[in-house]
Amino acid sequence: MEKLVIHGGNRLFGEVEISGAKNAAVAIIPATLLAQDVCRLENIPNISDVSCMVKILSQMGAEVKYINKHTIEINTKSVNSYIVPHEMTRQLRASYYLIGALLGRYNRAKVALPGGCNFGVRPMDLHIRGFELLGANAVVENAMINATADHLTGSPIYMDKVSVGATINIMLAAVKARGLTIIENAAKEPHIVDLANFLNAMGADVRGAGTDVIKIHGVQSLHGCTYSIIPDQIEAGTYMVAAAASGGDVIVKNVIPKHLESITAKMIECGVEITEYDDAVRVKSNGEFKRCNLKTMPHPGFPTDMQPQMAVLLSIAKGTSVVSEGVWDNRFKYLDQLIRMGANVQVDGTIAVIQGVPELTGAPVRADDLRAGAAMIIAGLAASGITEIEDIIYIDRGYEDYVEKLRNLGADIYRKEIKENNVGFNAG
Ligand code: EPZ
Repeated sequence: MEKLVIHGGNRLFGEVEISGAKNAAVAIIPATLLAQDVCRLENIPNISDVSCMVKILSQMGAEVKYINKHTIEINTKSVNSYIVPHEMTRQLRASYYLIGALLGRYNRAKVALPGGCNFGVRPMDLHIRGFELLGANAVVENAMINATADHLTGSPIYMDKVSVGATINIMLAAVKARGLTIIENAAKEPHIVDLANFLNAMGADVRGAGTDVIKIHGVQSLHGCTYSIIPDQIEAGTYMVAAAASGGDVIVKNVIPKHLESITAKMIECGVEITEYDDAVRVKSNGEFKRCNLKTMPHPGFPTDMQPQMAVLLSIAKGTSVVSEGVWDNRFKYLDQLIRMGANVQVDGTIAVIQGVPELTGAPVRADDLRAGAAMIIAGLAASGITEIEDIIYIDRGYEDYVEKLRNLGADIYRKEIKENNVGFNAG
């Protein structure tokens, strides 16, 4: 087991290259089940959630060939089962996309409920209702979702709540259904658009992705394709906040600035200097920040996956900020760790009131989940003294080569082996 050790206080300078989007890749990889052909995926991020999803497909019988660190070829022709057991699905949330993809391929799917970050209840009622409206019978039994249909028929589907996962799962099940599916109140995240573009590259007919209404005309069959994954909006935002929190000057490369609009706007409101280029943003800060209020919303609102990172910046801003978590019912657990570093925060349900302090101080902390772990790194970079972060396996799930990328920017950060006998300090 390893932990991170960060000697805080170094300003970050230089350039960082953003990898492919995790939340696009973990949807597109299972989507290859819909075409019994070779799909070549480029700009795939080298992270454990992706390798885990690829491993599941190869365990199901798919042929997988790594062309290089960021390019894989997947041929699911030899997959011959619609069943995915617990040991495969519990490592990552996105394993539930296998339900929509297998339903789309076999009209059957029997998939164990997923794992993933724990920040409150993560129901699947919207997924199940979508499958049922397409004509499947979907029940949860033995902690598995068992979905069966004679065939799938296109249907109007109004989403009671905006859900990334349910929108994606319904798209996967609907692309080969008979007739027209209309998803209303659909999620609009960049990875939804990326999946739609991938499905269309395979010969599907998906229109309106990125708007509230997605229309899908079912097709008979899909074919292989070559497709390049979009850059990761959240990884980019994380490095933008890290650069600002350290008082540095960093060019974040290989981004789509339009995907970063809400993050850029909020950081400018806090007094950070941001310059946009075609496929890069430059982030410059003197390390002093103004307070601001923040409410996380579905895209194009401020992304919930950037809430912990931004809260760290606000914890050292001048004044009091109010952060309202509009997507998840319990996504402030990491603040206990930030308080150990001197942050002054009060939490009441989905609202956190953050009173800025002059500086954070290093401490032993842990990563409660993927984005909480990223926030602890940012806090350690900005703090004075030494910060040690345990449970970094969460961070490995979604950030490619983050220690190397940060060291190249001048951060004093390294991984350290934890001896078995002193694992698990009492981090409160
Ligand atoms: C995806 O999770 C992302 N994960 C999450 O990112 C992200 O936080 C979330 O979307 C919101 O953007 C992946 O893409 C793998 P939702 P997902 O369905 O699909 C409620 C990260 O850090 N809901 O959009 O699970 C749900 O409780 C991860 O990369 C229902 O009520 O999120 C939540 O309140 C963490 N019923 C809201 O909708 C359902 O059937 C949004 O959830 C489904 C969801």
